[in-house]
Amino acid sequence: MSEAQSSQLLRVLCVEDVEDDAVLLARLLQRSGWTVRWHRVDSAASLAEALRAEAWDVVLCDYRMPGFNAHEALRIVRAHDPDLPFLVVSGTVGEELAVEMMRAGANDYVMKDNLTRLPAAIARELREAEVRRARRQAEAQARLLWQAVEQGSSLVLVMDPERRVTYVNRRWTEVTGIPAEEVLGRPVEEIGLLISLPDELRREIRKAVESGKGWRGEVQVRRKDGSPAWVMLAISALWDETGQTFRFVCVAEDVTPLVEAEERERRLRERLERQVHRLQALRLVDTAITGSFDLRITLNVILDQLTIHLGVEAAAVLLLDPGTASFRAVVARGLRRDLVTQGVRIGEGLVGRVVLGRERLHVPNLSEVPGSREARLVAEGFRAYCALPLTIKGQVLGVLETLSRKDFPDDPEWWEFLEALAGQAAVAIDNGTLLENLQRANLELQRAYDATLEGWSRAMDLRDRETEGHTQRVAELTVALARAMGVAESEIVHIRRGALLHDIGKIGVPDEILRKPGPLTEEEWAIMRLHPVYAYRWLAGIEFLRPALDIPYAHHERWDGTGYPRGLRGEEIPLSARIFAVVDVYDALTSERPYRPAWSREKALQYIREQAGKQFDPAVVEAFLRLMEEEPFTLPEPGAAGPP
Ligand code: C2E
Ligand code: SIN
Ligand code: SIN
Ligand code: FE
Ligand code: FE
Repeated sequence: MSEAQSSQLLRVLCVEDVEDDAVLLARLLQRSGWTVRWHRVDSAASLAEALRAEAWDVVLCDYRMPGFNAHEALRIVRAHDPDLPFLVVSGTVGEELAVEMMRAGANDYVMKDNLTRLPAAIARELREAEVRRARRQAEAQARLLWQAVEQGSSLVLVMDPERRVTYVNRRWTEVTGIPAEEVLGRPVEEIGLLISLPDELRREIRKAVESGKGWRGEVQVRRKDGSPAWVMLAISALWDETGQTFRFVCVAEDVTPLVEAEERERRLRERLERQVHRLQALRLVDTAITGSFDLRITLNVILDQLTIHLGVEAAAVLLLDPGTASFRAVVARGLRRDLVTQGVRIGEGLVGRVVLGRERLHVPNLSEVPGSREARLVAEGFRAYCALPLTIKGQVLGVLETLSRKDFPDDPEWWEFLEALAGQAAVAIDNGTLLENLQRANLELQRAYDATLEGWSRAMDLRDRETEGHTQRVAELTVALARAMGVAESEIVHIRRGALLHDIGKIGVPDEILRKPGPLTEEEWAIMRLHPVYAYRWLAGIEFLRPALDIPYAHHERWDGTGYPRGLRGEEIPLSARIFAVVDVYDALTSERPYRPAWSREKALQYIREQAGKQFDPAVVEAFLRLMEEEPFTLPEPGAAGPP
């Protein structure tokens, strides 16, 4: 009985009708070395009560009692705890009954005339109960883990050492659209999840995984329907006790929405950058036109800009030579010499069509049009062709030709810029022939600039507000208000440009801040307050925008001096910025923002009224309220009329 030699506490629940028998059992166990605490019950109710009230190590149960029996007692004990040792201790009963009790779930059966066996039986059952409990706990834990994997939000795929799939979870099936039956047992390379991995990456992953390091990274996968998805994938190896790899586990998060948002953001940024560059290009041409009397130099600058910013591979400007009644290239890029020097008679070929039609002519595939010059261009490998008429005082005096070996992009801004450069070429030609026209030339140039500016502000709206046109309308309202306040007409063009560009500095504010749904932290505000400063830095270098700078730089100044970035006060703030501030805030309030819903028109007007003399110039507020009354300027969707 060495097992029972300790003086461990043994809590015995005795199901027994005879008190003396219980005492006897307790003494026997005490003598075997346990410190025994015991309690006797003899009915279903008292048994259940005792189980509820206290923890027990073992139940010793008589077989038959008046009004109660071991079968019923066992049922009650098992319902309470499937692992609690239950031993029947009874007067002599038949072998059959004993077997039946064991079958019903008793752990042992000891006869009262052979009680010496009891301590060892108890010791054994205590040990086994412990093992059973541990196993049960492990199973429960495994079940929980299993549930976490099966129902979790990560994609999980497990493969064997030959990289055959042994398990995929529900989320994996959901995201990939491939049912588990279709992948289980198949090599992972054959199935959809990693099908789009480039070979090199696959080798890298395999090496890392087999060396035991595991691998982590973002990869693109393909769903069953062919649509792409992005996942953050982590692959690791599992080893068995002998150190052999027996499973590879892939856990992946579906990050498609995040990646798509980044992608959108990146495209927008690129678009803005292109616009900035194109604007600078126009300015360069502007300088060339006003600063040079040599038409050839100016036209060369224009062709440079064409090739740099639009990626065309060849271009030429052909001018009318009245003497020979033909068009002849005066400057060219990327064209063979004979193509440059040869004239095109009026009315001939594509150039002729442009001159007669006075309209841009775009030929996506040159090989489909007849003509000897055209055939030679095709022979040079050119495919896409576009010619624009250069019209001066209603007469087509020249043609701008652009050529490319591939198709021209399907991008309205690309075409707008091409038109702008053609416009400049026309101005340059006109200018080169007649110096007095400088005034008009500038006007034309500014038209080209303004087209670019508007493209620019549309792109900004897309980032900040996700609706195009807002900035345009705010610009209209600002112009109307400025006129109502008697601002000189010569200033209006600058005010309009300033309004269009007022929040250009927000390009420097990260998306997490710009689109944050809640209030900004101190640090975030510090960055947000820089947007007028950014605008100033970026635009100050563009000469024709300098008079328009007041609005971008000062639109967050406040009449009472509490604004930013300079804390100007009262009439220190340029008038155009004071005017614009009212329109900007009115529009901001009546529009939905990521950080709050739109206010109603009434509530916004009330706010403007209250802020006269605080945030705003009272004179501007008065003029604004009057303007809003006479012209209800429905400053537009989205949610502009929505309740606060
Ligand atoms: P925005 O959304 O275009 O707002 C322009 C100006 O309108 C604001 O300049 C402010 O003067 C006024 N305004 C807009 N919404 C409210 C409003 O709910 N209540 C009041 N009283 N005035 C309003 P401000 O405050 O200098 O903010 C400049 C820019 O900073 C905002 O341009 C916006 O892009 C950002 N911003 C301001 N507050 C928050 C915010 O709580 N969360 C986030 N994510 N951005 C904010
Ligand atoms: C893959 O599963 O195709 C890459 C990882 C590996 O081959 O172990
Ligand atoms: C606008 O939509 O341009 C006015 C709101 C703002 O930019 O602050
Ligand atoms: Fe602003
Ligand atoms: Fe603004």
